[in-house]
Amino acid sequence: MKTCFVGGGNMASAMISGMVGQGGVAGDIVVIEPLSPARTALEQRFGVRTLPAVDASIAMVDTIVLAVKPQAARAAIMPVAQAIAGQPLVISIMAGVRISSLRTLFADKPGLAYVRAMPNTPATIQRGISGIYLEASVSAPQRAVVETLLSTLGAVVWVASEAMIDAVTAVSGSGPAYVFLAIEALERAAVDLGFSATDARALALHTFRGAAELAFVSETAPAQLRENVTSKGGTTAAALAHMHATQFTDHWVAAVQAAAKRAHVLGDELAAALQQAP
Ligand SMILES: NC(=O)c1ccc[n+]([C@@H]2O[C@H](COP(=O)([O-])OP(=O)(O)OC[C@H]3O[C@@H](n4cnc5c(N)ncnc54)[C@H](OP(=O)(O)O)[C@@H]3O)[C@@H](O)[C@H]2O)c1
Repeated sequence: MKTCFVGGGNMASAMISGMVGQGGVAGDIVVIEPLSPARTALEQRFGVRTLPAVDASIAMVDTIVLAVKPQAARAAIMPVAQAIAGQPLVISIMAGVRISSLRTLFADKPGLAYVRAMPNTPATIQRGISGIYLEASVSAPQRAVVETLLSTLGAVVWVASEAMIDAVTAVSGSGPAYVFLAIEALERAAVDLGFSATDARALALHTFRGAAELAFVSETAPAQLRENVTSKGGTTAAALAHMHATQFTDHWVAAVQAAAKRAHVLGDELAAALQQAP
């Protein structure tokens, strides 16, 4: 199976690292990446072949992974569309670029099967989660390829409609930022209570990591774990009462809904821009 990465940045590097680390053949991977230092780093770290621009050697690849920023989609995809002679599986991890736009950029070539995946930044340390949407034309063997490739970045969740990729973006794509904000808040509270900045960070970070890992290994639901540490009239109860009184969870849910709406609008804007003639 020959795989061609279009863009050799953070996400592509994380996927290639996982593929090669899990015994994938580096010689079966080619990366199109205009930046010379990035190409050298990819060749030296993983032994993959790199190209500064598309050439005829990618004509018969089995899988194409689109890993450029959405703004570079048109410039990156059009030469690829001209070079391919087979019917590869096309996996896009570009935020907000819809399959209808990909189809247009690939000049409506028949036989291509499209997949959209939305990973998140912990993917760069193989601790991410990706939401994945498969077009109906994706075959069972191609689905297995998708699962193998995206699992290199962490866990995967399948969604039944492309619109749900906007929801994935809002929940787990933007999610690390919500967690970082919560870590910042706990850190600030620790400083206000008299801890040094170093100790405040340690207290906040270890609390988040420990609680998340406990929730992962425990068979008990997070809500029950929370109740287990909340004795009546105790310290945790005092904090949670304040959070409930100020509608903390309602605000959190509304924030994620705002992100989902924004993802949809950004998708509309990108679709309109990509439908225009170059
Ligand atoms: N990072 C995340 O958390 C995350 C999460 C979900 C989805 N994504 C999506 O994943 C995609 C990649 O993100 P990333 O963080 O890996 O971006 P990145 O590090 O900027 O990587 C993109 C790479 O593609 C290269 N490139 C630009 N134009 C190209 C072209 N015409 N042909 C080939 N390569 C080209 C860029 O080179 P230059 O630097 O020279 O432009 C850059 O090295 C984006 O669409 C992003 O929305 C990222």
